[in-house]
Amino acid sequence: MRSNIAGNILDAIGGTPIVRLQHFGAGLAPALHAKIESMNPAGSMKDRSALRMIEAAEAEHQLGPGAKIVIATSGNMGVGMAMVCAVKKFQLICLVDPKIPPATERCLETLGAKLVKVYKRDHTGGYHLTRLEKVEDVLAENPGAVYLDQYDSAANIDAHYSSTGPEILEGVGGQLAAIVMVAGTGGSSMGVARYFRQHAPDTDFWLVDEHGSLALAGNDGSAPRFLNGMGTSIEPANYGGEGFRDYVDHVVYVDAAQAIDAAAQLARTEGILTGGTGGAALHVMRNVAAAHYGPGDRLLALLPDHGSRYMDTQFNKDWLTLQNIYVPTIYDDASEAD
Ligand SMILES: Cc1ncc(COP(=O)(O)O)c(C=O)c1O
Repeated sequence: MRSNIAGNILDAIGGTPIVRLQHFGAGLAPALHAKIESMNPAGSMKDRSALRMIEAAEAEHQLGPGAKIVIATSGNMGVGMAMVCAVKKFQLICLVDPKIPPATERCLETLGAKLVKVYKRDHTGGYHLTRLEKVEDVLAENPGAVYLDQYDSAANIDAHYSSTGPEILEGVGGQLAAIVMVAGTGGSSMGVARYFRQHAPDTDFWLVDEHGSLALAGNDGSAPRFLNGMGTSIEPANYGGEGFRDYVDHVVYVDAAQAIDAAAQLARTEGILTGGTGGAALHVMRNVAAAHYGPGDRLLALLPDHGSRYMDTQFNKDWLTLQNIYVPTIYDDASEAD
């Protein structure tokens, strides 16, 4: 018998399942699917980016033994990098903000990362620019530390061009009418969209962002955002300015209530827990399936992470009430149970 033992946990990154959704979107003619990125070992698609970015920095001789890495993260990249750093014996300093879910913060600490939290909102109402400002201070305080910028990173994009993209195309046997992904740093969407443009140009690429995000060129109305990982207060270089339009067919904006409601419905109908950004992709997939596709068409939404990270935030009635977000699926079930 041949053994099937991974050399370390990093060997378990990728190869996540694609699931046919039998009940979410029931009654629609197209077949809906989800790629479950929470099955990566540290719990999100960012594990792929984290490994590739650190490997790229190693290849460029930026990281000696015991090197210190600094990143700005909304959470999942930090957790992925903390896993990689634990295995490779690097130190990690994460710049985070108060929007980080408590469970993610505990994961980072448990994996040995050091956290630096910024509290001041930037002029867009978010924390992103304050986090980036703080990078300079942290680098000054830690001579020799290396900043890895996930917003401007060929390795971040390449991680998904070379793994997520091919996994999706092979997983669906080459037949996919549309793929729906969400926008953050642009690493995942630009990697997969580029791969599909080159290898399956007939597949439509739908990119979803949260209202109030400035990630994509042309959207300039900043507003508070609630979905961790999605949307930014800057236009990440990964999108190449207007360049993303060479790969992306449609851009759709959603609000947090729609996204979290779709995630809650997925949990109830399919037994799959995903965070609000997965919900955003699901919400859009269901809408466009109804409006633009027909029998025999396959659609796929990529679900970036696991819902369990958000039990104290997005799926918690008290938190939702404080943020003034109304999620019918969560509130209606609650009132029935009372
Ligand atoms: C939960 C979640 N969804 C979506 C994204 C956006 O992905 P990307 O940064 O590859 O655009 C992230 C990124 O951190 C994330 O953590």
